[in-house]
Amino acid sequence: MALASAAEGASVAISGLRFDIGGRRILDVADWFVAPGRQALLLGPSGSGKTTLLNLLAGLSRPTAGAVAVGGRDLAGMPAAARDRFRGREIGIVFQSLHLVGALSVAGNLRLARYLARLPAAEADIERLLDALDLAGRAAARPADLSQGEAQRVAIARALVNAPSLLLADEPTSALDDANCERVVALLRRQAAARGATLVIATHDVRLKDVFPQRLDLPARP
Ligand SMILES: Nc1ncnc2c1ncn2[C@@H]1O[C@H](COP(=O)(O)OP(=O)(O)OP(=O)(O)O)[C@@H](O)[C@H]1O
Ligand SMILES: [Mg+2]
Repeated sequence: MALASAAEGASVAISGLRFDIGGRRILDVADWFVAPGRQALLLGPSGSGKTTLLNLLAGLSRPTAGAVAVGGRDLAGMPAAARDRFRGREIGIVFQSLHLVGALSVAGNLRLARYLARLPAAEADIERLLDALDLAGRAAARPADLSQGEAQRVAIARALVNAPSLLLADEPTSALDDANCERVVALLRRQAAARGATLVIATHDVRLKDVFPQRLDLPARP
């Protein structure tokens, strides 16, 4: 599928979700639903379980109790290999610490994401995507030679390169000044909307409090 064509947004459905570590309750979400193609914010203070919840939404960890479904598929119920394949194709993740591969160029990082999802190379699409994220001149650069803002846009490009139906971003704005905060949120929203992808942003950044049509507040945990 060409990147320019819209992905079918995936719904997110959580019910009776609990996540414990070492007998300690980290997360407790009774119900949450995000309709396909919608944009939502997960807001909570440090330690409230936002990254934990994104990991559950991405099928990177399994709930202690309850269910997480993406696009109607119950992640915990899938065999591990199927879950990895589903994540690679359907879910784009912008990690808080970016996790770019330092040994590869910008374009190489995007190619690797397609390769790992067993998707065919898409050089023209990669070029268009880098162009759209204002990175056209940086395709051959290594992550270490990028500015922080450029590196973050590469991480966003990589999350989009497989045309996911769900885009997750962890704290994309907490280190940014107001102007760049607005810029990055607008970029994520515009790119998700252009592709029809559902967007979930996790943050403790209260500047985003009223920006999204839908919000889940995670309480502070003792
Ligand atoms: N592997 C782990 N082992 C033990 N405790 C963990 C582990 N992962 C997370 N936690 C704990 O779970 C709680 C929630 O962590 P999480 O990273 O999800 O919070 P967060 O809301 O993303 O915080 P931040 O805003 O600082 O990123 C924290 O108290 C954290 O210490
Ligand atoms: Mg976190």
